[in-house]
Amino acid sequence: MPRTIVAANWKMHKTAADTTAFLDVLLAELEQTPPHVDVMIAPPFTALAAASARLAGSRVLLGAQTMHWELEGPYTGEISAPMLEEFGVTWVILGHSERRAACGETDRTVNLRLHAALAQHLLPVVAVGETAAERAAGAAGERVVQQTRAALDGIPNESLQRIALAYEPVWAIGTGNNCDPDEADRMMHLIRNAVPGLQETPILYGGSMKAANVADYTAKPNINGGLIGGASLDPRGFADLIRRA
Ligand code: PGA
Repeated sequence: MPRTIVAANWKMHKTAADTTAFLDVLLAELEQTPPHVDVMIAPPFTALAAASARLAGSRVLLGAQTMHWELEGPYTGEISAPMLEEFGVTWVILGHSERRAACGETDRTVNLRLHAALAQHLLPVVAVGETAAERAAGAAGERVVQQTRAALDGIPNESLQRIALAYEPVWAIGTGNNCDPDEADRMMHLIRNAVPGLQETPILYGGSMKAANVADYTAKPNINGGLIGGASLDPRGFADLIRRA
């Protein structure tokens, strides 16, 4: 059985000061929570130092929202794996649909980022998911299988257990219109079988997940946790979600 992971993707939310205030509350809440899930928080780059300082010695893991595949170079505005690791980052989200749609990430560069993250000993969460148009055209399953295969191209079998995948239907992100858990499980079964060797790889659901629906997902055989945007921004609400996962 893959382990359960609850991961917060804060996107472009929270300053460093906001982050410290959030973590003060979250860590106090989690003290009473048995460690049945791995918890990861991916704040903006500018809040990594504050988060790292506050999370030292806690069970909450620190993640980043993307990274470049080169270690350094003429890439204005970009951040590399060693820069993240300097702040205690151990996880990195790759291929989020917002990065694909608005920041030029492609199947090819998601694959480059994944190779680089593994080479630098970061633990990647690779996001895949179909758009509403792809779903309407009956192409949702085909699209996520193709995205998964493209992302994992050339990744050796023994590395697949150091990766998590996330199924995030684009139409469900930030809309309140979460994917039916049975349908999410069906899609995640397709993802799990897209390449050999993913039986022990955690696959997370993302897209309007919240405390009230998380258990409907984690009860399913192919769903090993969540990647949470909006519902990760309030520390008490997020702690409640973690408890119910
Ligand atoms: P959401 O975002 O929980 O706000 O829908 C999820 C994500 O984009 O990872």
